[in-house]
Amino acid sequence: MQLLDDHLLSLLAGAQHVMVLTGAGMSAESGIPTFRDAQTGIWTKYRAEDLATPEAFTANPGLVWQWYEERRNTVRKASPHAGHQALVMLEALVPGMSVITQNVDGLHQLAGSKNVTELHGNILRSKCHITGRSISADWLTDSPHVPPPSPYVNQGYARPDVVWFGEVLPHEALAAAMDAAGRCDFCLSIGTTSLVQPAASLPVMALENGAALVEINPLETPLSLHAGQCLRGPASLVLPGVVQQLAEWKRDPDHCPRL
Ligand code: OAD
Repeated sequence: MQLLDDHLLSLLAGAQHVMVLTGAGMSAESGIPTFRDAQTGIWTKYRAEDLATPEAFTANPGLVWQWYEERRNTVRKASPHAGHQALVMLEALVPGMSVITQNVDGLHQLAGSKNVTELHGNILRSKCHITGRSISADWLTDSPHVPPPSPYVNQGYARPDVVWFGEVLPHEALAAAMDAAGRCDFCLSIGTTSLVQPAASLPVMALENGAALVEINPLETPLSLHAGQCLRGPASLVLPGVVQQLAEWKRDPDHCPRL
């Protein structure tokens, strides 16, 4: 398994704030399909315009709700893997860390990561499609309708609390992500094609502010060119390896700063 080179390992060991950006590849080994991987990616089987836009929901709310219900069922059955656990350990090894995720499955929080920002919402939450107000799970289970009606306004429906194409990201989440990108000194980009904005800009922003950048992805992406190192392997293997490297580095007195 490919590991961090000594220079980047020393930068990680000395980092004050680590920003971790994750994408669908982070959840792939938990059994949640990615979007753009050949053959298995969601957008290779379905058209995003038909299912993941406000217009698609207005045109056919039942179809969209049902499609998300299938994805919710997959997410409900999923558990974090060794890569998610490694990020929890990493949080304990560095002074500050932010996990910024494009994933909507809540697996980082389930694993125990504390400082998680969800850029694209959470598929297990729902909200009114007109007012945007949050709708409780109890209200949804009690409804026989597809989609359940909104408790707030006539003609409103429940919709998944995720960001669809053409929608803006939640303001607070984006502000937290930009803050992390601005002040981190080490950035890990994991399991993302780095194609969807504004998430794709965050590692570039970190780099421009002087942070070291490492990519973890079995495949090349547009970000690879800018990374100090690309670790080509699955997150569940590479991340535990990197965290073990860091733990060993910190345990070795030869690596402690000398007076
Ligand atoms: P993509 O599906 O575009 O990319 C997944 C990336 O994960 C690819 O680069 C894969 O090579 C990589 N990958 C696959 N398996 C992996 C593994 N085991 N370990 C590490 N990496 C692996 O997913 P995102 O980049 O997250 O947006 O997509 C960004 C956004 O596009 C999503 O959040 C979603 C989608 O449309 C919304 O829903 C708003």
